[in-house]
Amino acid sequence: MASSMVRLFLLLLVLCPCAAIVSAGRYDPPGASCYKRLFSLGDSITDTGNLASVAPNSSVLAFPYGETFFHRPTGRFCDGRLIVDFIAEALKLPFVTPFLAGKTAADFRHGANFAVSGATALGQQFFRDMGLDLAILPPFSLDVQLGWFERVLHLLGPTEKERQDIMSSSLFLLGEVGINDYNHPFFQNRSFADEIRPLVPKVIEKIENATKVLIGLGAKNIVVPGAVPLGCVPRYLTLFQSDDPGDYDAAGCIRWLNEFVEEHNRALRRMLRRVLRGPGVAVVYADYYAAVQEITRDPRKHGFSKDAALTACCGDGGPHNSGVLISCNATSVLCPDPSEHISWDGLHLTEAAYRLVALGVLHGPYAAPSILSTCGC
Ligand SMILES: *[C@@H]1O[C@H](CO)[C@@H](O)[C@H](O)[C@H]1NC(C)=O
Ligand SMILES: *[C@@H]1O[C@H](CO)[C@@H](O)[C@H](O)[C@H]1NC(C)=O
Ligand SMILES: *[C@@H]1O[C@H](CO)[C@@H](O)[C@H](O)[C@H]1NC(C)=O
Ligand SMILES: *[C@@H]1O[C@H](CO)[C@@H](O)[C@H](O)[C@H]1NC(C)=O
Repeated sequence: MASSMVRLFLLLLVLCPCAAIVSAGRYDPPGASCYKRLFSLGDSITDTGNLASVAPNSSVLAFPYGETFFHRPTGRFCDGRLIVDFIAEALKLPFVTPFLAGKTAADFRHGANFAVSGATALGQQFFRDMGLDLAILPPFSLDVQLGWFERVLHLLGPTEKERQDIMSSSLFLLGEVGINDYNHPFFQNRSFADEIRPLVPKVIEKIENATKVLIGLGAKNIVVPGAVPLGCVPRYLTLFQSDDPGDYDAAGCIRWLNEFVEEHNRALRRMLRRVLRGPGVAVVYADYYAAVQEITRDPRKHGFSKDAALTACCGDGGPHNSGVLISCNATSVLCPDPSEHISWDGLHLTEAAYRLVALGVLHGPYAAPSILSTCGC
């Protein structure tokens, strides 16, 4: 009996090299999610309604946001689902409740989403000290979101034992976060060399701290995404347009901006490699950068239109259809088919693009191990 159990266990180990199943010591039946919950932190790439619940006048709560999938605005800066939504679907979990839209333990039984549009890794005070205009820099940085998470954790698990069970049976999506630490000063004309580039180590330190806080609370599976190529973002293509062809790569993206994001992502990966891991802890880098770069370099292969690769679907006209910060609303220039575009509103991606990024981290190659290989087999 005992030895047949051991054989079964070894067989499972060979068939499914899955941390979740092995650490839980059981096999989840097909149809059930391997992770009981999904918790996510970050910014507008992941926000499914938090900013909207504190800023009901935000453009994100008006047409055409949400037109493709939900057929109404939901607070997502997208025409449809975000990466976190596709991850929830693949894990057979419902769309995760935005923290500011939920109240009870029942609201959060499948997890919670703490990401807020505009949020930074560094605290708001840091940017106040820099002298930035804080009008669109919300006071919901990574530390604030972690505080919210601890409240939900205690709501769901009154005892230490319950909290440990919750931590070890949940998937954490920590980010993307950090890009707004650069966006806000860029959009307020701060100096790249003197003020923006020197932020990288500080931003990475904050993400490192958050990773360690989650591990310290007992998290076993954390996915930490890198930033997307800013040099291919329509808003940046307009802001930093140049007459020098040498400033652009073959895909038409701004070289120096992409090199900057690569620098951030390299520092992030270095940090993740050395971050202290407890037994059975998997911290996985999700390469959103490579995923977006791949579809930008060869849009047609991935179902996008070649002419629309660097042009927002919804915006205020011009060569990239993106002039001002968020220029997408009911009176904007709106493309007939968002799925031909990578960029939705000049800053955020379309559902079609997010879907491809999500597939790449769920199944590989843009997360190693891929999210699904850490779970269902
Ligand atoms: C929202 O818009 C309404 C109508 O334009 C205005 O009266 C109200 O003050 C705005 N609220 C906020 C929080 O900006
Ligand atoms: C690390 O994160 C915790 C929880 O958010 C916070 O209280 C603490 O100040 C952070 N430490 C640093 C150095 O950022
Ligand atoms: C940044 O510079 C542009 C162009 O000079 C100007 O139009 C814009 O108002 C400036 N923005 C801020 C926040 O200073
Ligand atoms: C809507 O967007 C257009 C540009 O696409 C802009 O000119 C206009 O001011 C925006 N309207 C509102 C109410 O924000």
